[in-house]
Amino acid sequence: MERTLVILKPDSVKRKLIGEIISRFEKKNFTITHMKMMTIDEETASLHYSHVKGEPFFNDLIKYMTSGPVVAIILSGNKVISTVRNMIGKTSSFDSLPGTIRGDYGSHDFENLIHASDSVESAEQEIKRFFPELTY
Ligand code: PPS
Repeated sequence: MERTLVILKPDSVKRKLIGEIISRFEKKNFTITHMKMMTIDEETASLHYSHVKGEPFFNDLIKYMTSGPVVAIILSGNKVISTVRNMIGKTSSFDSLPGTIRGDYGSHDFENLIHASDSVESAEQEIKRFFPELTY
């Protein structure tokens, strides 16, 4: 069993897509073990995206991710990390195939609805970052 950290970004919440997106993961038989609505502060967003700190889009990305409430979710299941990444699609909504979350609902290049961890290491780090209250 693996676990991964998913964030439904501010545009998912504003567009009332929370139920639609979560339902895809439930239908795929992944288990939601923890879920909360929260607003990400600048410090946490900067830490979360520290790997793209030098990029010209960094400030816009932080502004976007702190612009409103998000839903943070821990999903668990067999091969959940790579499967959820496949279900999401590519970074740009316009490069994402129909059938993926970004391909079906995305209407913007980089306001792309959802984040999910890309490896076991980043999943564990991101779970600690967004669910510091958990002790495991
Ligand atoms: S990397 O280097 O593979 O991690 O890059 P990538 O996964 O493509 O992007 C990392 C996160 O940066 C966001 N991104 C952008 N935001 C705003 N503008 C531009 N041009 C842009 N390019 C990439 C992208 O959505 C990734 O966020 P997450 O939340 O990880 O999907």
